[in-house]
Amino acid sequence: MSDLTSKLKTVWIQLSGHSYPIYIGIDIVPILAEELIRLGWKGKIGIITDTHVARYYLSLCEEQVKKVSPQGYVVHVLPPGEEYKTLQQIEEICTTMLQGGLDRSSGIVALGGGVVGDVAGYFSASYMRGIPFIQVPTTIVSQVDASIGGKTGVNHPLGKNILGAFHQPHSVIIDLNLLATLPERIYREGFSEIIKHGIIADEGLFEYCRDNAELLIQKDLNCLLYPVIRSCEIKADIVMKDEKEQNIRAYLNYGHTFGHAFEAVTQYKTFLHGEAVALGMITAAEVAVQMGFVSEDVPQRHREVLAKYGLPIHWSVLPVDEVMQSMKRDKKAKAGKLRFILPRRIGEVSIDSNVPEDFVRQALEKIKSPSN
Ligand SMILES: NC(=O)c1ccc[n+]([C@@H]2O[C@H](COP(=O)([O-])OP(=O)(O)OC[C@H]3O[C@@H](n4cnc5c(N)ncnc54)[C@H](O)[C@@H]3O)[C@@H](O)[C@H]2O)c1
Ligand SMILES: [Zn+2]
Repeated sequence: MSDLTSKLKTVWIQLSGHSYPIYIGIDIVPILAEELIRLGWKGKIGIITDTHVARYYLSLCEEQVKKVSPQGYVVHVLPPGEEYKTLQQIEEICTTMLQGGLDRSSGIVALGGGVVGDVAGYFSASYMRGIPFIQVPTTIVSQVDASIGGKTGVNHPLGKNILGAFHQPHSVIIDLNLLATLPERIYREGFSEIIKHGIIADEGLFEYCRDNAELLIQKDLNCLLYPVIRSCEIKADIVMKDEKEQNIRAYLNYGHTFGHAFEAVTQYKTFLHGEAVALGMITAAEVAVQMGFVSEDVPQRHREVLAKYGLPIHWSVLPVDEVMQSMKRDKKAKAGKLRFILPRRIGEVSIDSNVPEDFVRQALEKIKSPSN
């Protein structure tokens, strides 16, 4: 391999029957050409991206594919945003790829945020009963979360991620330089997932995010390497232990039962996902206080670090009843019981399915008060 390898960190995901590398570094998109050679795809390559990302990075990606693809390549550019994470887009991609001549020996490069990754991944899982794909994620959320672990899918009008498949990528290329063009609010919300990884598995990562917030907000890429690498290691480790979410993979949903409900009751208009998850994590920590698992300093430490990234730490008009109803409808409520991931300390969580409804209500009430 080239001298690029000296500039990157590789984290391997080893699963029964399939292992793949996650490359993390700065200016490492050129490794895509080497990866395509290593993987040895014989057929045409399909590149899937969205209009925002295409404007900045499609040519960079095409340059690499052109170098090594004997059969050429086909590009499909999605309109940007969650509302296009639909079956209709899968059908449209299918038309482009069939007309462009992709066959069973082809592979896909997904260049974009989590929406592109989920759609391109689901397309790859289904096209001719499954072809391989590479993830080149371009948002923090997709770099530390969505591109790793093989969950792919699209939304249905009645629910998010309702149609999906587990389809692991063959390679993930995380180039921090691609974050340069990310709008500030979308960049900052990504820290919610990084901080989440700290709370569930690594107090050191949590403290790093607290102590280096200024540099990280300014997109200091050298400072960002460590939290992105640690996040990928933590997610990879959990996925390797529980690929299909039978048990501990659920830890990654920390703050998400509340977060999804906050998103749903506001019709996905008030909060970005990471913002809702920030509030959700504080709520979960308050539930843990009610349960007697932790003292008040744990939710307080959540607030301290999340606030540094401009993430919300209270919501004065939180509609408690609506949130309760929404959570009871959530697909993660098993047999009608509310199930939560709760902290035992910063760096460790557990799954608890016997949380009294009163405790949940009291925790939600606490989020309404700005004095906390
Ligand atoms: N599969 C999983 O395990 C998993 C995990 C977490 C989230 N997700 C999914 O990921 C999606 C959210 O992903 P996201 O937060 O990356 O959002 P996104 O893909 O919608 O990207 C956010 C916005 O930023 C733009 N953008 C992306 N990269 C850019 C860049 N480098 N420069 C400028 N603009 C850029 C996009 O065009 C879009 O407008 C949701 O659909 C969620 O369900 C999946
Ligand atoms: Zn999330």
